[in-house]
Amino acid sequence: MTVPWWQSGVIYQIYPRSFQDTAGDGVGDLKGITRRLGYLAELGVDAIWISPIYPSPMADFGYDVSDYCGVDPRFGTLADFDDLLAQAHARGLKVLLDFVPNHTSNQHPWFTESRSSRSNAKRDWYLWRDPAPGGEPPNNWISDFGGRAWEWDEASGQYYYHAFLKQQPDLNWRNPAVRAAMHDVLRFWFDRGVDGFRIDVLWHLVKAADFPDNPPNPAYRPALGEMDRLLQLHSTDQPEVHGIAADMRTLADDYGAAGQGERVLIGEIYLLVERLMRYYGEGRAGVHLPFNFQLIEAPWQARSLAALIAAYEAALPPGGWPNWVLGNHDRPRVASRLGEGQARVAAMLLLTLRGTPTLYYGDELGLSDVPIPPDQIQDPRELREPGKGLGRDPLRTPMPWDDSAHAGFSTASPWLPLNADWPARNVARQLAEPGSILALHRRLLAARRAHPALAIGDFALREAEGDVLAYERRHGADRLVVALNLAARPQRLALPEWAHDCRPLLSTLADVTPVQDGALLLRPDEGVILTLAD
Ligand code: GLC
Repeated sequence: MTVPWWQSGVIYQIYPRSFQDTAGDGVGDLKGITRRLGYLAELGVDAIWISPIYPSPMADFGYDVSDYCGVDPRFGTLADFDDLLAQAHARGLKVLLDFVPNHTSNQHPWFTESRSSRSNAKRDWYLWRDPAPGGEPPNNWISDFGGRAWEWDEASGQYYYHAFLKQQPDLNWRNPAVRAAMHDVLRFWFDRGVDGFRIDVLWHLVKAADFPDNPPNPAYRPALGEMDRLLQLHSTDQPEVHGIAADMRTLADDYGAAGQGERVLIGEIYLLVERLMRYYGEGRAGVHLPFNFQLIEAPWQARSLAALIAAYEAALPPGGWPNWVLGNHDRPRVASRLGEGQARVAAMLLLTLRGTPTLYYGDELGLSDVPIPPDQIQDPRELREPGKGLGRDPLRTPMPWDDSAHAGFSTASPWLPLNADWPARNVARQLAEPGSILALHRRLLAARRAHPALAIGDFALREAEGDVLAYERRHGADRLVVALNLAARPQRLALPEWAHDCRPLLSTLADVTPVQDGALLLRPDEGVILTLAD
């Protein structure tokens, strides 16, 4: 049975500023990623997704794009990108880019034109509105980064809408010219050979046409970000977004149909499961994978994890392929949320659930969030709402490669501090330690390749009592049990009859213990994969 690469494969997210610097400016670059392709291939992932590399004033570190069809000089050149792509493909690695369609930079030429006058041909490419009576903003919408979402433009006497920073004006996706221009962007990169896109804030693209006020959020507490004061009822997740996603899918499918390998679209969508599922589209005509972020915030408890997994599986539309994420460039790292022992167990969960996993760079080393001294804070999210734990610098720190100066990341002082334990917690050291969390990731990824049951098999929950979560994966004769101990005390798991002859394939700990008397003894913080003895 052959399945598309984006179903059987594993995606690895690279935050390019922090992966590998070759220019000596303390900021990662494309040549750095190219240099580390060997590491990624040996790790055993199938695809890389690179956060934005386009020219940008960097108000939101690349999520404010001033030219969709170029490469920021800090990251290199288009030729560097083509080289990266060719070398990745030569190693069998797919390359996904980050598509940022909701907003441009305020320095994008489209916005400069749009802003120049009310009669400019591109005026309607963005969301301009007259003030409310008294000169107030047109409605009560709040920026996701705090503060009001409308910026007054004195020269033309209107407000423009920005869901994020005022340096990130939202495009008007109801305008066909915007759609056409953004389709050209997709074609530009598809023509170069990219294998797909992660689509930034897909659920934000369309806003209610008449811009009504958003209702208050009854669950708001001051500890939350200011954006949570309101429910984003009218500013996000409008029905028209699905037509837009379907058009992007058609475009991507046309490339696949032209025999150039299937192209994938992954949507960034933070919504409850039922709404999330709609992004698969009618007849699977939406994005291939609406990102499923539930594990990032899930209580680490067997029963609730089991319920979450079961509800997600049950909600999938026919033919909809699942996916799982443990971390990304916006959320606290898994090792900080759960501690290293459970970060290992979580890695086993991520890489053995049914569906495409996305792994965040550095999580394979068990990197934690790095405390950032106040004078080194860079993230606008933190600077705008300090002290609430919303800042993203701590989880975007440089990849520690070895114990040489600056951890082999750069010859200069890095743009964000390294993890304090980098002399011990780095790639070179962990490659040399069979019991390291990196070695565990390599073993898990190798097991996925060796066992179709893990990559594409069926899934059945077996146990979710106390601190033990156990499930079965099966593909034809290939049949496995995954048993996870979510706590730091030993547990005993009685196995089903068929599994009595199983042997441990791997453990999150350094060694394995055999099945005895039809039961598996799980040590503290241990996850085990069992397979039928050969
Ligand atoms: C997405 C990105 C985030 C960015 C925001 C605005 O949520 O993941 O990093 O700040 O969009 O583009």
